[in-house]
Amino acid sequence: LQRFALAPLKALQWTSGFAVIGNRGSRRLCSIGTILGIETSCDDTGVAMVTTDGRILAETVYGQTTTHLATGGIVPATAAQLHAANINPAISQVLHETGVAMETVDAVAVTNCPGMAPCLKVGLVHAKRLARRFNKPLIPVHHMRAHALTACLTDGVQLPFLALLLSGGHSLLAVAREVDDFYLVGRGLDQSPGDTLDKCARYLRLSELPGLGDLPGGRAVEIVASQGGDSRAWPLSGSSTRFNKSDCNFSFSGLQSAFRQLANRVLLGDPMQLSEPLQHNHLVRQHYPHLCASLQYALCRMVATRTARAVKFARRTELLPESFPIVVSGGVAANSAVRSSLQSLAKFYDLPSAVFPPARLCTDNGVMIAWAGAQLWRRRLHCVMPRDFASVDLEARCPIGEDLTGLVANWHIPVDRFSILTDHPVAESGTAQ
Ligand code: KG4
Ligand code: ZN
Repeated sequence: LQRFALAPLKALQWTSGFAVIGNRGSRRLCSIGTILGIETSCDDTGVAMVTTDGRILAETVYGQTTTHLATGGIVPATAAQLHAANINPAISQVLHETGVAMETVDAVAVTNCPGMAPCLKVGLVHAKRLARRFNKPLIPVHHMRAHALTACLTDGVQLPFLALLLSGGHSLLAVAREVDDFYLVGRGLDQSPGDTLDKCARYLRLSELPGLGDLPGGRAVEIVASQGGDSRAWPLSGSSTRFNKSDCNFSFSGLQSAFRQLANRVLLGDPMQLSEPLQHNHLVRQHYPHLCASLQYALCRMVATRTARAVKFARRTELLPESFPIVVSGGVAANSAVRSSLQSLAKFYDLPSAVFPPARLCTDNGVMIAWAGAQLWRRRLHCVMPRDFASVDLEARCPIGEDLTGLVANWHIPVDRFSILTDHPVAESGTAQ
């Protein structure tokens, strides 16, 4: 079975050019350089300066959460206007803090994909302008790859590894073999985990509770769940979430509607009363910790089962060696239940502890772009000189690497039964789903 199963990947190796890795590995690495990084793909204007040997010289993030909370979601045109207003102050601040003149910067790295087109455009236009003015190379960076590579900076993680990205915009599982050589093994089929948590938080109107007003929805859910929430009080049924049972893809929209039905049943006695937001009163609120804990647990279960299958797939295909790190990033990776469930998984599969970059570098930031740019610059990969800037464009949609999600599904890999710890006492995950 093993030999049969490996056949498709052997074919893939020929076409996807694994041999190139050897060539890349033998490329001359350049001396220490200083890279300016610019991130504007979503709702954070991030700028940072990082050296190729891993020193963060300065960093700043101009967020937009308050504006977008008021409109109930991100409006791309509004986000782009805010990026346009914030980007020059952010660049000036970083240059000022480092005392490094643009003349001595080695390259300008900028997110050019994926993301919201009007937002990406602001960063790209400013990065090109700056790089052209000082005759520096421009390094276009893939936002999701940059999230994954952050762990090499913060935790000294070595390639290759399995990357799990859970954010407000995305969910994906990818094998990272080299700085520019990724394989997609699981992707989001509908809304992102962050969006799901945000919408559920909005449904419960958590932002109106004391101390939670300015927090992202997922963080609010985490805090309320930690106030004695029992994830087993009202289990959110796995069958209400739509996903293919044999792949590593994520689906969260079913979880959101299951959560709303649960909330309505618990708080109003009627699961189908879906139209109006819930009204707060203390009787209703006493159920909130259990509801939030149940939501977190169901989300963790989805994430853990998909990641477990990805671990088995990567081992079987030898895309990764027997032991490798799991790197988890994106805003939702800041969640303590997500963290502990993935640590349980790593232990079960005899892997090193899962790696979570510090929370401020899990969310969108300029450091990850500067660092990814630094890794590419050291290898002289994707560095574009001003005369060729016209060839660098933005791409709103752009896969992280070769898409193996169909191959994963064809293999029908069962997921083992293991426990995930998301609150106290220990809760157990389901079997293969
Ligand atoms: O990666 P990120 O900062 O940016 C986007 O992709 O937009 O992720 C933002 C998401 C939001 O949906 C937010 O609710 C979620 O990350 N988030 C959290 C936590 N902190 C932020 N979710 C769960 N637990 C947290 N502690
Ligand atoms: Zn992101």
